[in-house]
Amino acid sequence: MLDKSSYAPYGLEPIETASRDEIAALQTERLAWSLKHAYDNVAYYRTKFDAAGVKPQDFKRLEDLAKFPFMAKADFRANYPFGLFAVPQEQIVRIHASSGTTGKPTVVGYTQKDIDTWSHLVARSIRAAGGRPGMKVHISYGYGLFTGGLGAHYGAEKLGCTVIPVSGGMTDRQVQLITDFKPEIIMVTPSYMLAILDEFKAKGIDPRESSLQIGIFGAEPWTNAMRGEIEQAFDMDAVDIYGLSEVMGPGVANECVETKDGLHLWEDHFYPEVIDPVTGRVLPDGEQGELVFTSLTKEGMPVIRYRTRDLTRLLPGTARSMRRMEKITGRSDDMMIVRGVNVFPTQIEEILLEIDTLAAHYQIVLTREGRLDEMEICVECRPEHAHEDIRNAAGAKLTQIVKDRIGVSARAVVKEPGGVERSGGKARRVIDNRPKA
Ligand code: DLL
Repeated sequence: MLDKSSYAPYGLEPIETASRDEIAALQTERLAWSLKHAYDNVAYYRTKFDAAGVKPQDFKRLEDLAKFPFMAKADFRANYPFGLFAVPQEQIVRIHASSGTTGKPTVVGYTQKDIDTWSHLVARSIRAAGGRPGMKVHISYGYGLFTGGLGAHYGAEKLGCTVIPVSGGMTDRQVQLITDFKPEIIMVTPSYMLAILDEFKAKGIDPRESSLQIGIFGAEPWTNAMRGEIEQAFDMDAVDIYGLSEVMGPGVANECVETKDGLHLWEDHFYPEVIDPVTGRVLPDGEQGELVFTSLTKEGMPVIRYRTRDLTRLLPGTARSMRRMEKITGRSDDMMIVRGVNVFPTQIEEILLEIDTLAAHYQIVLTREGRLDEMEICVECRPEHAHEDIRNAAGAKLTQIVKDRIGVSARAVVKEPGGVERSGGKARRVIDNRPKA
């Protein structure tokens, strides 16, 4: 783990310590360009701005952005595949896509300059996490249309690291390569890191003895309790990375290793807003709501006020002057409404990690018996606590704390190690088997 007493950030760019006025001036200038670029080059924006009665010239100050219409994932689908591109297709050097659970994937395109910006921001993110040129980076985010693998890859190369492009899956081989190649950094989803942890244990290798010093975890919600779990198990620093394909990919925001107090948004390239998800009103910093992004420099596929459905709040800068976002609570579409009570999987995660006989692998299954919702929390015991009595006691405790703290009655099913589904990438936390309304 990092020795904070002697830690100094390395290679800070001037913008990372710029004043708020300097940041706002840069954002204003870049926003004016981005709105005009979108309006002039994408029919979708032209139609939408015209219908709302706004023109790019109406933007003079940052507050003016609120006059412009929002966009949502459905707008990507409606313009599938290339309708939102703002440059001729031959200037697009890369395409990524995120597979939606329903319907067509969301397609995104990048010019060479966009790829350079992305690499630069992922390099900045790895540096914020404590990464340095010359370190070896084991990348287990999936390679392919998913932005995780290639996004991390180009950023790590840009920083001057030695990249080990493993991609997801084949957990046995992941452990082999970590043991043999001795990377200092790993980039992977936190849930898959736990699968790697299990494999270390299964092989009888002490994870705390591994070469890993820094984990850069993201692509799915995870709690500070999970951070503690992973840091303890590997004797490493675990840092959060956030991003989404529509806006760029990984590296829209990243935590700094010296503070680990939320993710600094790279505000020189993305303008964040937090809105009330129901009314669309822009909320003041500090209030919880839905995160919205406008790209400031993207050429290939600008996004204007894209509603992410991710819930968080904006906080002032600390280790950097750019604002932070609090760890994501969850996506509005992951929120379960169980007998009228709103529940996020992260709330369950926090509670089950308080019970020291339980492991961090879990899934929530929702069903309906008659007219009532039933919530079942499937979780695993830790291998050393597999005895039936211990499992029953842990299940009872989990049910009790969930009832006390969240106010819902859940049935806990404590399985033996390996009993809960693993994924090679993003974990599937909720299985909703209730009939659709
Ligand atoms: O997950 C990009 C990414 C790859 C980010 C690798 C970080 C690391 P998508 O597949 O488009 O892109 O999914 C984006 O994943 O809107 C959030 O709901 C969720 N997400 C991403 N990072 C985090 C995070 C990538 N650190 C969606 N915490 C986003 C919580 C996250 N949720």
